[in-house]
This record gives sequence, C-alpha cells and structure tokens, in this order.
Amino acid sequence: MKKTIRDVNVQDKRIIVRCDFNVPIDGDGRITDETRIVGALPTIRYLIERGARTILMSHMGRPDGEVDLKYTLKPVAESLSAHLGREVLFVSSPAVVDDAVRDAVAELAPGGVMLLENLRFRKEETKNGAAFAKELAELADIWVNDAFGTAHRAHASTAGIAAYLPAVSGFLIEKEVQFLGDAVENPRRPFVAILGGAKVGDKIPVIENLLNKVDSLLIGGGMAYTFFKARGYEIGASILDEKHVGMAASLEKAAKEKGVELLLPTDVKAAAAFENDAEAAFFDADAIPAGRMGLDIGPRTVALFGERIRTAGTVVWNGPMGVFEMPNFAEGTKAVARALADSDAVSIIGGGDSAAAVEQFGYGAGMSHISTGGGASLEFLEGRALPGIAVIEDI
Ligand code: 3PG
Repeated sequence: MKKTIRDVNVQDKRIIVRCDFNVPIDGDGRITDETRIVGALPTIRYLIERGARTILMSHMGRPDGEVDLKYTLKPVAESLSAHLGREVLFVSSPAVVDDAVRDAVAELAPGGVMLLENLRFRKEETKNGAAFAKELAELADIWVNDAFGTAHRAHASTAGIAAYLPAVSGFLIEKEVQFLGDAVENPRRPFVAILGGAKVGDKIPVIENLLNKVDSLLIGGGMAYTFFKARGYEIGASILDEKHVGMAASLEKAAKEKGVELLLPTDVKAAAAFENDAEAAFFDADAIPAGRMGLDIGPRTVALFGERIRTAGTVVWNGPMGVFEMPNFAEGTKAVARALADSDAVSIIGGGDSAAAVEQFGYGAGMSHISTGGGASLEFLEGRALPGIAVIEDI
C-alpha cells in the first residue's frame, strides 16, 4: 500500500503536486478535453480545504527543453481557476523555477494554489536531472504525485524529486491503481480483455501478461489483421505488421496452452480505400477480397463480442475496434462501448483512443473507470512497475 495525502499533515505546509495537465489544445489555445484537469480536482480541493499551500506542476506536449509558448500551461491555470472558483496563480517563468516563483511561493497563503510553467521547458525534466529535481523540491515540504498519465516516465518531477521530499500519492493515482490493480490481480470473473488499435507491436507485452490473467481475450482493430495473416487468411489491402506475424501465431498457441479463449473478429467491414466515403461492404474475416482494407469489425463480431461483455464480471478495454474517427467505420467501436455501458461488469477503459471513443459516443457515465493514462495504463497492464508510483512511500 502506498501513502496518500491522507497520511500526512498538510495544513500550512507547502505541497508540490505533480499533475498530468497534458491536455489537447486547439489552434486558438482552447482546451478541447478537460478530463485530466477534472481528474486532478479532488486532490486540489482536499489540499485547499485543509489549508495547504499548493504548488501545481505539469508538462504539456514535448517541447524538448525549449521555451515554446504553444505549450504554455496558462490555459490550464484559467481552466483550473474556473473549476475551483478561485484564482490559481500562474507564474509564467520560462525557467520554471526562478526568484519570481520562489517569491510567489513565499507569499502563498494557506488554501492558496499556484501553477508552475511547463516543466518540459527545462531539458533536465525528461532527463531526470538531479539539480532540477532539487530546485523543485526546495519549493515545498511534501511532494504529491497525482500524475497517473505520466507515472510511466522517470522524470525529475515524477520520480527524481522523491529523493528530496516525503512522497505520497494523490487521489487520482490512488483511484487508478485501485481500479486497474483490482482488475488485473483480483478480477470478478469471467475476466475479459478487449484489445484493439492499429499496432500489434505496442500490444504484445500486454497480451503476454494478460494471457496469465484473463478468461477471454478479444482482439479487434487494425492489429487483428496480423493475427488473420498468421492463420493464413487473405487480408487484401488491410493493415499488416509483417514483423509480428510469427509473434501473433505464438500468442494464439500460448492462449490455447493456457486455456484462454482468444477471439478474433469473424467478419469485417472492408473498404476500397482509406476514406470515410469509400465503397465498403461486410466480408467473412477469412475472405477479404484483394484490394480491400478492413476498417471495422462486422455485425456478427459485434454480437459475439457483445455476448462475452454481457456475461463478463470484469472487462478491461484498450484500443478501438476500427477507424472510429471516420463515422462509416465507427459502428464496431461504438457497439463495444454501448455493450460495456449496458453491462453489469466492472468496466475499465484504458486511456488514449478508447477513452476518447467512449466519451465521444456519450457512454462515459456508464463505465466503472476511464483511465487518464494512455501509455501509463498500458504499461500497468503489462505488469510493469511504474517509476512514478514505485517512488511513493509505502505505508
Ligand atoms: C500522455 O499523454 O501519455 C502523458 O501525458 C505522457 O506524455 P509523454 O508521452 O509525452 O511522456
């Protein structure tokens, strides 16, 4: 068990909180998805209510150690101020920490909140530079990690800083670890994992780990075609990861040996081109005509996957079933989201594309948990220790 902010006295203390405010911003500098900001609010509110002096920090994008105001956290400070109904002071120092920042911290009243500039304006952040970690640590008395989305990175603000301050987790990390951890270690059965997305390579370690845990593994999306190829099916012009065909065959064999049901789509919607308006039709999965590319799962697969979801005790889903960004190829992903929202299973959505799809189709409220971490939730499901969580003190 990891310590949380409940285990430390925060009153009057300077608390530096690592959040993941890496949110999408449009061309006009407006935030287009506030999920990660909303996810951080319980921890911030708790600190305000207990009279802590709260210093928030985050990265945004990958400015590679350069000051690039396209990635400023100013819009995040504005959004936080609106959500909290009080000013979140933004100190726009390009050095992230300097005398102006130190002065602002010294003047921060109990219950006050401020936000530092994008941590990745400093090269040392992603290099886990000890001097930068110390600069950040010297601003505060306690470090709180609540950046689940960045917990798979060993950076100065997500890991290095723990060498200099007491280290506890916030409520978001606590919740993520509880849902994802329980799902994997102590699932209500049958335990079903649904994996999709384009690249097989990215998902191999997850499949390997989950084959030791799940009762059924459902594979859809672009990665299914590499498994089809491994079975000797004709896949036409569908996406293929040639390098991993052998691996796909080994994974199917491993599933059989372990008594895990591995289900692939039985039918697909295949188009003449990678375009929403391209002519498209349904085909059996083993008979995709030459020149056609599978861009979604078909209705028989929707029914098959839907049945497994309806009878499941726990479902973990990561990766869309098709090119859901194109309305004509979104039905499979939408149907899986709908089946999950309707089911009584504990439903856990990995971050990234599947989280975006669930929200886009309006099924977010029907899920038990939607992770705020894309890469982080994948690494968690791979069974790897996340550096940002490993450094938090044990109870
Ligand atoms: C994410 O969006 O996955 C996290 O914020 C981490 O960002 P990164 O991949 O740039 O480290």
